[in-house]
Amino acid sequence: MKYLQDLFDNNISWADDKIAEDPDFFHKLRDQQSPEYLWIGCSDSRVPANEIVGLPPGELFVHRNVANVVVHTDLNCLSVMQFAVDVLKVKHIIVCGHYGCGGVKAAIDNKRLGLTDNWIQHIKDVRSKHQGIMTAINNEKFKHDTLCELNVIEQVLNVCNTTIVQDAWARQQKLSVHGWIYAINDGVLRDLDICIDNAKEIKTTYTKSIDRLQ
Ligand code: CO
Repeated sequence: MKYLQDLFDNNISWADDKIAEDPDFFHKLRDQQSPEYLWIGCSDSRVPANEIVGLPPGELFVHRNVANVVVHTDLNCLSVMQFAVDVLKVKHIIVCGHYGCGGVKAAIDNKRLGLTDNWIQHIKDVRSKHQGIMTAINNEKFKHDTLCELNVIEQVLNVCNTTIVQDAWARQQKLSVHGWIYAINDGVLRDLDICIDNAKEIKTTYTKSIDRLQ
């Protein structure tokens, strides 16, 4: 092994620890995965999905990208959602943003980063959509925190509007979509109080969440 031997060493001690806790741990995982949750979060290395919510392997289906964005033409994210909802039959989709998000900061700073700028444009669109809220804030940190929250709320709306979620609700499948935000500086998750479990509630719940930020 030329490189990264330390990671393989870590892996062996992790696998040993798991077996010490439960000798059948990997046998059970091999036979099936039946997670109840799909997590859509940021790729940021400081926001490890399973660890934050204390769930072991097998209990959280995960999709991560820069700034936890759900784009209606992103085949990658849509495929994860479709598999999670139609095949694994998850009961909850959690969109989890985080304060101090570099993707959100880039949308505020307007600095050129490269190809990523095209991705970040989706967050700039969120900023433009809520220009009234954003321009009323003078404090830079508060402005950043608010755009992180607005971004989560908009992505919850995008999840709800996908054919995947709409079809699941139409066939009475139990499925809730949640918007959460994580604070890196204290390790605590906050519920943004946007939880939607049927098509009829989308507009009113979304509007209430936005109103709270005004
Ligand atoms: Co981030």
